[in-house]
Amino acid sequence: MRLDSIARIPLTALPTPLEEAPVLAERIGLRKLLIKRDDCTTLALGGNKVRKLEYLMADVVAKGADVVITCGGPQSNFARLTAAACRKVGIDRCILFLGGPDFEGLKGNLVLDVMFDADIRFMCDATVDEMNSAMQAESDKLAAEGHKPYIIPVGGSSPVGALGYISGMRELASQLEDDDKDAYIFLTVGSAGTLTGTTIGAKLFLPEAQVVGISVSRTAANIREIVGRVAPETTKLLGIDCPIDPNSIRLEDSYYGEKYGVSTEAGNAAALELARTEALLVDPVYTGKAVSGLLDMARRKLIDTDRSVVFMHTGGVPILFAFEHEFRDIAKLTRM
Ligand SMILES: Cc1ncc(COP(=O)(O)O)c(C=O)c1O
Repeated sequence: MRLDSIARIPLTALPTPLEEAPVLAERIGLRKLLIKRDDCTTLALGGNKVRKLEYLMADVVAKGADVVITCGGPQSNFARLTAAACRKVGIDRCILFLGGPDFEGLKGNLVLDVMFDADIRFMCDATVDEMNSAMQAESDKLAAEGHKPYIIPVGGSSPVGALGYISGMRELASQLEDDDKDAYIFLTVGSAGTLTGTTIGAKLFLPEAQVVGISVSRTAANIREIVGRVAPETTKLLGIDCPIDPNSIRLEDSYYGEKYGVSTEAGNAAALELARTEALLVDPVYTGKAVSGLLDMARRKLIDTDRSVVFMHTGGVPILFAFEHEFRDIAKLTRM
């Protein structure tokens, strides 16, 4: 397998910690709950996208690109971390096409995008297809001017990006005790690159584990279609024959509520429960929704509660500061 010979630019201290969450485990009836702290990757407030960007930025540099273009929602963690990674590797220009609901002020990830001097193009309520067209048009224009633009697809979920979670699973395997190697591995699923890498990585390094993806935006069928497309290209990069059957992945698409980027009551409650049991922070629209799935599935015994659970904390904490209004009503705040 070529994993170690594929170019990668280190952007974070590794390994990230693997911590037990005994108070929450007891409350929800789990024998053992471990949290893989990928929110603690050390680039620009961290998150799962840093592992993808280590491979993606190596590809950007190898191709001699001088402008990086990507897209996402206004609170995209991937957009923030791409802008940060560009700074780290000396790419001067990072253009972010951000589509989604309109916003007031520069909160959460948006202020961080500004800190990294990203060139932000806001496309109110645009779909990913519309943003893809806008990225391509910008790339063509820049190329005609003599630049070398590099487009990273939404969420960094290309085969190169997915490599980050193959090495992520190798790291997790090295941290787990033998008794925990058949754990459930819960993770948040958006653009599905993390899931693709995790599924391949688990098959290679933790073959007894079961991956459980909680969607924050897509139907399970759509996620399976993405994994079915990206996984073979990813294993090809590794030079291995490791067929992935997307239908064998356990996926839950009933926890994302109305739509991507809009909070749910259960997600907010899960964020509060995690904060108040384990002092762990998650945002309401990505990891908070996944935690709400974990809490519900454990409490309703939809999983075997005697089996260990690893929850991949994929980050997103800066978004909490864009959703502060959700928590105003419960604040114990007295003006003296
Ligand atoms: C905090 C957080 N967790 C998980 C995910 C999901 O990762 P992926 O897009 O690879 O499915 C995202 C993606 O945006 C994210 O920002």
